[in-house]
Amino acid sequence: MKGVILAGGLGTRMLPLTKITNKHLLPVYDRPMIYFPIQTLVDAGIDEIVVVTGGHYAGDFLNLLGNGKAFGLNFINYAYQEGEGGIADALRLAREFTGDDSICVILGDNILENTIKPHVDAFKAQKKGAKILLKEVHDPHRFGVAEVDGSGKVLSIEEKPRAPKSNLAVIGVYMYDAHVYEIIRTLKPSARGELEITDVNNAYLREGSLTSSTIEGWWTDAGTFPSLYRASRLVAEQVKPELKENWF
Ligand code: DAU
Repeated sequence: MKGVILAGGLGTRMLPLTKITNKHLLPVYDRPMIYFPIQTLVDAGIDEIVVVTGGHYAGDFLNLLGNGKAFGLNFINYAYQEGEGGIADALRLAREFTGDDSICVILGDNILENTIKPHVDAFKAQKKGAKILLKEVHDPHRFGVAEVDGSGKVLSIEEKPRAPKSNLAVIGVYMYDAHVYEIIRTLKPSARGELEITDVNNAYLREGSLTSSTIEGWWTDAGTFPSLYRASRLVAEQVKPELKENWF
């Protein structure tokens, strides 16, 4: 299985922080944001990785990450997304590298407390189709939201619904077989002008080959000011548990 990290987009939600750098290079407590998704893939046993990035500061990823020595890697591959065509548009660019292999995709601004290895192993056993990971949140309208029946079967997924059908966010970790690239070719831009990853997941749902698992431990994105602040705090408390009691 190959790993794909999506770190494109222009980070306009985070201006002026992103005026002179890429969002995924901003600090989350003691590390650049992009370190977290790389470590998550490496901890899951995935060591063939492509980073898709974009914008004016894409070269800085190479300066920072090089061949991935800090993560025990020998090589990192890079792809460049022109513009901000959406998550599925960025994923399209990974095809050259991942070919017929199955993939684990992680958004460059997603940070998890725990390893995803059990879910990656479950998807390897599943062999075909797709797998999404879910987490209960108090603000589901900010995310893709899954409606799930009593047995854990996904019934529907909606992107940032006004009236969410559940509080289960679809987190930014997705596992797909190589059929994903054919699905992306059929997508049309959404109302916000992007190729949506939720449309990819709904295509697998319609084909009857989508599974889901709920994750343990905390998960956050870091793509807004409040969530970047929250991510820094969660990481700080993981690195230095004594901070929990003594913040200032
Ligand atoms: O964080 C999980 C959520 O991420 C999911 O629940 C949503 O279903 C999914 O659409 C996404 O929502 P966001 O609105 O938070 O996505 P955002 O536009 O912030 O993009 C997240 C990451 O995806 C970003 O850090 C880099 C990558 N990306 C995004 C776009 C729009 C790209 O690589 N290229 C792009 O064009």
